[in-house]
Amino acid sequence: MSESKPPVNPVAPSSGAAPTVSIVATGSYVPERVLTNADLEKMVDTSDEWIFTRSGIRERRIAAEGEATSDMAAAAAQRALDSIGMRGEEVDLILVATCTPDMIFPSTACYVQQQIGARRAACLDVSAACSGFLYAMDIGRQYILTGSAKTVLIIGAEKMSAIVDWTDRGTCVLFGDGAGAAILQARGATHGILPSVLGSDGELSELLTLPGGGSRNPASQEVLDGRLCYVKMAGREVFKHAVTHMANAATQILERYGMTIDDVACIIPHQANARIIQAIAQRIGAPMEKIYMNVDRYGNTSAASVIMAMDEASRTGRIRQGDMVLLVVFGSGFTWAASLVEW
Ligand code: UT7
Repeated sequence: MSESKPPVNPVAPSSGAAPTVSIVATGSYVPERVLTNADLEKMVDTSDEWIFTRSGIRERRIAAEGEATSDMAAAAAQRALDSIGMRGEEVDLILVATCTPDMIFPSTACYVQQQIGARRAACLDVSAACSGFLYAMDIGRQYILTGSAKTVLIIGAEKMSAIVDWTDRGTCVLFGDGAGAAILQARGATHGILPSVLGSDGELSELLTLPGGGSRNPASQEVLDGRLCYVKMAGREVFKHAVTHMANAATQILERYGMTIDDVACIIPHQANARIIQAIAQRIGAPMEKIYMNVDRYGNTSAASVIMAMDEASRTGRIRQGDMVLLVVFGSGFTWAASLVEW
């Protein structure tokens, strides 16, 4: 990190007048089963060479038979709780960001509550596709600042293997399963989580959808036969918008707090595609050494990607206490977000 200190968070100054909200623990979980590009070569007309050069992905994790999103979410949450000796009963609010809930209702957060014994918690899911974790973090932060909650558990968790069309080579090679969790609490001494830049553009919703199974196209034989219960993506269009919006959001949040790339120790972008990440780095003038990438091992895990990467970066010492970390995400909707977090 450079010598220049970031300006005081205007919403929650670190002067002691009001608390700031920090990530006090993280945890993550990935299923054991590894699906390599070589395995995919046997399933669809593709090659390791195509997948790796177009996306940077070498392998991804696939949930076990019967393993649901809430199971992975609860495992990640338990690891976060255990890392600071916290019990589930201490959690006031659980927010699960996911586009692959166990069921349409109840919320996946309620299933997590049951599994980690968070009896006192209020529970809800956040739907912002791949951007969901940063939306949930911003919501959780505000619950703490208003005094409505002391301890918020935010989770990004996805079982993408349940919604990808395993006959569509344009999408099935990209996604993977996993979960990450963070615990938020008020801390007086640091800048903590600064208010995020959040944005959406519903005009472009058709470019990345899962059309079937909701109220627009309820489950029916026709919906199943039309393969409408799987991800539909206009890859090249999504690629362009992902680069533009993530680069703009990253620039906007740095400008908002009077910072430059030099003030940031690590940039953790949504792990959708290594080429998207490289293009963003170029646009914002960030050296690749500052960018954290694990898309090669996990593919695109949607709402789980950024928190899985954060937890890994923290455990491996890539980010350390006091580091300023820039997070930036993009997903269906379209939705996007950028956050600055003092670790
Ligand atoms: O989480 C946020 C949302 N998702 C994303 O951010 C993903 C955004 N999009 C992408 O990452 C990229 O667009 C892809 C990786 C999906 C595709 O890369 P591309 O360079 O945009 O390729 P393309 O879709 O333009 O396809 C190029 C060619 C096509 O063949 P023709 O029409 O040129 O003959 C495809 O049919 O590659 C073909 N192709 C494949 N070939 C081998 C598409 N998928 C595959 C495949 N293996 N798996």
